[in-house]
Amino acid sequence: MAKTYYFPPIVIMGPGAIELIVPEILRMNVKKALVVTDKVLIKAGVVQMVLDVLDGAKFPYALFSEVKPNPTVTNVNAGYQALLDNECDYVISIGGGSPQDTGKGVAILATNPGDLRDYEGVGKTANKAIPIVAINTTAGTASEATINYVITDEERKLKMVIADPNSIATVAVNDPVLMIKMPASLTAATGMDALTHAVEGYTTAGATPFTDLFNLEAIKVISASLRTAVSDGDDLDVRDQMAYGQFVTGMGFSNGGLGIVHSMAHQLGGFYDLPHGVCNAILLPYVVQYNAEAVGDRLKAIAVAMGVDISRREPREINIMAIDAIKKLSRDVGIPAGLKEIGVKEADFSVLADMALADICTGGNPKCPTKEDVTAIYKAAF
Ligand SMILES: [Fe+2]
Repeated sequence: MAKTYYFPPIVIMGPGAIELIVPEILRMNVKKALVVTDKVLIKAGVVQMVLDVLDGAKFPYALFSEVKPNPTVTNVNAGYQALLDNECDYVISIGGGSPQDTGKGVAILATNPGDLRDYEGVGKTANKAIPIVAINTTAGTASEATINYVITDEERKLKMVIADPNSIATVAVNDPVLMIKMPASLTAATGMDALTHAVEGYTTAGATPFTDLFNLEAIKVISASLRTAVSDGDDLDVRDQMAYGQFVTGMGFSNGGLGIVHSMAHQLGGFYDLPHGVCNAILLPYVVQYNAEAVGDRLKAIAVAMGVDISRREPREINIMAIDAIKKLSRDVGIPAGLKEIGVKEADFSVLADMALADICTGGNPKCPTKEDVTAIYKAAF
């Protein structure tokens, strides 16, 4: 069956990538950028590295640095107001998922009327966003590569997932030099988010041979690099590998979809304001176990990609070895063992399960879950 695949039109990767945005911005025929970022990245000096490039090229810009860790509708509206007030005609988003997702929301509001809540779901906008130069600083959500973004609706206390080809960045930039200063805990959480994308993307109902190429490659690269990226953050080669790995799975899952690890993690993030990557990492092995019977021999391919020696092993054993390899990686990079440790309350499981079933990622899960199934997974991961 025919299928449309969406990729960012311009991709810049590797050490020094931010220098190469200059000729691309010149080609875009734009006047003034709204730089969308957060205070932590300003304090860390990461934003200045990009501003130096813009200053060197004499590109005008205004700065919006109010992005929150789990950006809200109010947050995006404030960014859009800054875009209007400063008469900007394109967005340069600098950061991990939060600034990237906020940047997409702002760029969509610039060309589409009404409220961001109107666009929750799949492909609801009529118009292409204003141009976005998406500069990633984590490895990562891959939001710089995807058609998806996630914004918290504070009124309904939930994360809205918006999958919209009109929101894809014009230029996607992955410069590992910007990732060197990323703290170990953030490296671990965002790295496990990327592994979750690759594993879920490889086992989703929407997987195709084309998305498999990206997701399997990402499992290989991320599982070989993440431990060193966490223990020795100054290793530029490993940072480059992680930046590449998270980007390729971005191209995979953006086009194939995900599953209930993300459905369930979105609710934990929206409900308790918890880091997305940590929630995913804790849930991932339990969901893989739940889905095992529905994914054929895909866990075997995952085990092999993660470097597990499966010779002379039975299929059931291999499935367990794949799940154990995920758990071990998670533990080695310091992810908490269960949801209890991060403040999740057992009493909320019923509400969380209802919300997870309604999440758009649930449709991609290889097995159709009931409320009891989802509740049981939350309990197992507790
Ligand atoms: Fe994610």
